[in-house]
Amino acid sequence: MISTSSVELRAGARLLLADVSIRINHGDRIGLVGRNGAGKSTFAKVLAGETLPAGGQVLRTGTIGYLPQDPRTGDEESTVLNRILSVRGLDTIAERMRGLEEKMGSSSGDELEKILERYSRAEEEFQSAGGYSATSDAEAIATNLGLPEKIFTQRLTELSGGQRRRVELARILFSNAQTLLLDEPTNHLDADSIIWLRDFLSKYSGGLVIISHDVKLIETVVNRIFYLDANRNVIDVYNMGWRNYLLAREQDEHRRKKERAIAEKRAEILQKQGEKMRAKASKAKAAQSMFKRAEKIISATEAERVKDKVAKLRFPSPAPCGKTPLTAAELSKSYGSTEVFTDVDLAIDKGSRVVILGLNGAGKTTLLRMLAGELEPDTGAVAPGHGLRLGYYAQEHESLNYEETVLANMLKARVDISEGEARNVLGTFLFSGDDVFKPVKVLSGGERTRLALAQLVVSAANVLLLDEPTNNLDPASREEILGALREYQGAIVLVTHDEGAVSALAPERVLLLPDGDEDLWRDDYYDLITLE
Ligand SMILES: Nc1ncnc2c1ncn2[C@@H]1O[C@H](COP(=O)(O)OP(=O)(O)OP(=O)(O)O)[C@@H](O)[C@H]1O
Ligand SMILES: [Mg+2]
Repeated sequence: MISTSSVELRAGARLLLADVSIRINHGDRIGLVGRNGAGKSTFAKVLAGETLPAGGQVLRTGTIGYLPQDPRTGDEESTVLNRILSVRGLDTIAERMRGLEEKMGSSSGDELEKILERYSRAEEEFQSAGGYSATSDAEAIATNLGLPEKIFTQRLTELSGGQRRRVELARILFSNAQTLLLDEPTNHLDADSIIWLRDFLSKYSGGLVIISHDVKLIETVVNRIFYLDANRNVIDVYNMGWRNYLLAREQDEHRRKKERAIAEKRAEILQKQGEKMRAKASKAKAAQSMFKRAEKIISATEAERVKDKVAKLRFPSPAPCGKTPLTAAELSKSYGSTEVFTDVDLAIDKGSRVVILGLNGAGKTTLLRMLAGELEPDTGAVAPGHGLRLGYYAQEHESLNYEETVLANMLKARVDISEGEARNVLGTFLFSGDDVFKPVKVLSGGERTRLALAQLVVSAANVLLLDEPTNNLDPASREEILGALREYQGAIVLVTHDEGAVSALAPERVLLLPDGDEDLWRDDYYDLITLE
């Protein structure tokens, strides 16, 4: 159980929340929603006890499993399976048992007796913590989240960013914690894993708080909605599922509008009467009271709520280029003994649209990074065509320098960009005023996505390589980027698990990984994205 009383939240100088008192009970499944940068992740961090609020108290009972939006935690030397097991202390017991097993081989007599005794104690401990069945639970969770068995013994440092995140998610789900706080848990999952996660969470009996822009997940899993309204610095609590919440919000807005209109009318009448009466000296006092009443009526009804601003996104015309600006031939990649893909060929024609499909670990991000020139293939080569200008949007926002400011990052996006132009584009992506001097590390997930997209916009690229460009974006911003994709004249190579992004792209071709087969786009390929 987690409860807050009069919590105040700040980010730097900005007030995010004032006087918030909420409760998360056992069995609650809460969807924490709100626009990008509203303060959801900051609030989750406070609920988890990772940071203190600027004011008020947070009370926690029971164990809590917290998945941050951008987890880069954990002992780097640890292996994948041990990292997951460590949340229940199983890794250290297993380690001890292995040590004793080794010693058994080289000892005899009394010494062996002692070791055997210690071993049986360790094994008892191991069993009471869940033991072998827990280990196989952990393995099942990991597999369902798209972590192949062959990486279980790899060290965390060898994993991709997306894999690291999935390890952390597996660890939290394995923890058996009484309350789970999950910040964007689907970000690096493929369709099959998302479906599995939805099912897992629907059956979860503890308390649950999910921050997610994945409407489907929220719709199937949650039974309460906490709407974080950044304009009013409050959390509106709706004790209902997602669909009813949407209706209720609409009705609330409608009711407020009506109430406001009635109040304005009444105030206007009083005002007019007051003005008539004011002309006569004998009625000046009554007139005053009329004005006062009018004022009171207006101030007692809620003003129309400010609508959230939306980033206005438009990709500029691509720089001219030849018929086939990018070609790749016979690309192969292995990590250690694991073959990711072999002999993949691809030709990107001017203005063409290609979607890359494949399950978790099929090498989609790996292929995009090769096309972007960020990763050397083991065999084969990527050949730029005439006039190629690449724009690469990395899933992990690797293109951003976290220590530098928003503006500094933008100035690096194109050699000849002026500060004025950079600030203009940033403005349309909702970074205004002092926002441009924020270091990237303090930005919210959605803000980072917006910045990375802003970099693409000024690059005048004619081939865009996009790796999950809609992750982290709130619905309104997502619509904007989908619109921009639709209109863009250049070529796009897209990796996504967002069906809407594919349909906005209207792809001509699909590349299937790990086989590398190419096919013309048919609508039954949607089934591969949604798997439903
Ligand atoms: N140290 C800081 N200084 C200034 N601003 C900050 C600081 N830390 C966070 N912020 C700002 O606080 C706001 C809230 O961030 P938070 O990460 O909680 O948003 P969010 O609701 O999780 O958004 P998203 O949906 O994009 O993940 C953002 O605008 C962020 O830039
Ligand atoms: Mg966030």
